[in-house]
Amino acid sequence: MKLSKRLQTLADLVAFDTVCDIGTDHGFLPVYLAESGKAKKIAACDISPASLKKAEVAAARARVSSVVETRLGAGLSVVVPFEFETCVIAGIGGRLLCEILSSDMPVSATFRQLLLSPHTDVPFVRKFLFESNFKITNEKLVFEDGKWYNVLVCQPQTEKLGKPTEADLLFGAFRSAGFFDFVSANLQKTLAVIDSIEKNSAAYVPELHNYVRACESVLRERNRNDTFRPDT
Ligand SMILES: C[S@@+](CC[C@H](N)C(=O)[O-])C[C@H]1O[C@@H](n2cnc3c(N)ncnc32)[C@H](O)[C@@H]1O
Repeated sequence: MKLSKRLQTLADLVAFDTVCDIGTDHGFLPVYLAESGKAKKIAACDISPASLKKAEVAAARARVSSVVETRLGAGLSVVVPFEFETCVIAGIGGRLLCEILSSDMPVSATFRQLLLSPHTDVPFVRKFLFESNFKITNEKLVFEDGKWYNVLVCQPQTEKLGKPTEADLLFGAFRSAGFFDFVSANLQKTLAVIDSIEKNSAAYVPELHNYVRACESVLRERNRNDTFRPDT
């Protein structure tokens, strides 16, 4: 199974043998994990019977149906506490992702590793994770088909987490490969939105200007030798 760059990034980050993939759709990630031997027990889970059928077919074609089990249901309702070490939730909106984690906290809090790749509202997800005591231990950025994707690696914690800064919530605290390009792209996009709003309605949107200042502040790091952290 050849994965997209985004799914390959997720697969490479899987650190444990037992994995559930919530919102699996085509089941590509579970099939890859089974084929490559990276995981030994995998549940491909989805709320949609049509999606799950695709995952079943993919697993059967790759002859890994004995390792990849499919489960039909909403979010983590199909998983019991301590059943899987790694939980992947990717390719859905950030608010739905948080809802999935929060509505089954007795399950969410038992994973040893969560790999989360929300397609929207990433700062909202970081805030939710902080407030729910999930520590973000790493972040990766993937640029694919003209879009940036965030991948957050997290662990539930028992001790209270240190409060993140506003910049950490907006952009993450890790300077992984592509970080400054990602912030530059967001800055340019926001400047274009401001330009269009102000040209058409002369409205001043303070949130957008605050966001621009936050981007510019982070980008200044790139040029400061004392705080420069190289892309890794
Ligand atoms: C765009 S696909 C993402 C597929 C794959 N995870 C990826 O990243 O490429 C989103 C999938 O999430 C499923 N989904 C949406 N809401 C869900 C929920 N509450 N519980 C489980 N699956 C859900 C959809 O049925 C769909 O198959």
